[in-house]
Amino acid sequence: MKVKLVIIGKGNVGTCFLQLMKEKEKVLKEKFDFSYKIIAIFEHDGALINENGIDLEELLKMGEKFRELTYWKKNIKATELISKLDINVLVETTPTNPDTGEPAYSHIIDALNNNIDIIASNKGPFYLKYKEIMDLAKEKDCIVKYEATVASCVPVLSIKENLIGNEITSIKAILNGTCNYILSRMTAEGVPFSLALKEAQELGFAETDPTLDIEGFDSAGKLIILANELLGWSKTIKDVKIIGITKITPQALELAKSDGFTIKHLAIANVEKKELIVEPRLIERDSLLNINGTLNAIELHTKHAGPIIIMGRGAGGPEAASAIINDLIYIAKKRGHAR
Ligand SMILES: NC(=O)c1ccc[n+]([C@@H]2O[C@H](COP(=O)([O-])OP(=O)(O)OC[C@H]3O[C@@H](n4cnc5c(N)ncnc54)[C@H](OP(=O)(O)O)[C@@H]3O)[C@@H](O)[C@H]2O)c1
Repeated sequence: MKVKLVIIGKGNVGTCFLQLMKEKEKVLKEKFDFSYKIIAIFEHDGALINENGIDLEELLKMGEKFRELTYWKKNIKATELISKLDINVLVETTPTNPDTGEPAYSHIIDALNNNIDIIASNKGPFYLKYKEIMDLAKEKDCIVKYEATVASCVPVLSIKENLIGNEITSIKAILNGTCNYILSRMTAEGVPFSLALKEAQELGFAETDPTLDIEGFDSAGKLIILANELLGWSKTIKDVKIIGITKITPQALELAKSDGFTIKHLAIANVEKKELIVEPRLIERDSLLNINGTLNAIELHTKHAGPIIIMGRGAGGPEAASAIINDLIYIAKKRGHAR
């Protein structure tokens, strides 16, 4: 049986996902006996809808002109149609409103109420309303996967399955590539914060409005997801003490360096103290968390095996898309649609 999908958000991640699905179509069939149909792709101003399955080759050839396809329906919203479409899985890749989690929150709740499994790259709903979403998923016997929300393709949420015989006692992580890039540049070149930020913006690593990154909210959202998923907590972003990196000076970094340390923007969950913190911290220069550039790193302290560190590229369309495909294969296997 073919898995029937709907995708909401045809931006960077959504389009990379469509490209990878097309590229991997044969492999998915041969390796996992998995086949699929994409029934609808929603954008903010309408949707491509084809109950027989959208021809991805034709769609991808259209590039940004996809609205010229005959099955483009203007001004249709996902919330009006989710209950009417015959689908198994909803893939949510819209941007996040950090205060409400919308529009993804409504898309996810609607889908769960219609017994549709979820894959999301959008972290907003999970750091704001994790418990509500998971309780509803349980009630409706739905699977919710969201690996791409934290560190993109770095499999830090699914690592939980490989640690069920162990116990995680704390999490220490670098979860925001923009902050890490800025601090790395300030450390290496002795440049002030404002210059390092400008450089990050010029290179496309930082947003035009970088507030959510540099003030620590982005890392805090990801920390909540890690703590809830890996430690079994039910926290929201309000439970995190957050300090950004805007007050760090080249002098402070120089002083840290002369003592054998460096300053990193860490996201920390401590089981014993039951606390969640995002703030600049001194770490030893030879610490494995002392990574440079836009990378992400996550150190899990475990009761029976000491620290386990996992690192990699924490952003990027293809990276997030590959995490979504992992989640999709997981769901397909669980539902008996793949072997
Ligand atoms: N990019 C990454 O590296 C990365 C990695 C991991 C996770 N994520 C997360 O994944 C999500 C998508 O990221 P992205 O980089 O693909 O963003 P993006 O390029 O801005 O794409 C988002 C798309 O969603 C569309 N959209 C907005 N509101 C919508 C609505 N109500 N209904 C349907 N579509 C809507 C946008 O349309 P318009 O632009 O036309 O408004 C846009 O095409 C974000 O939540 C992001 O945090 C991104």
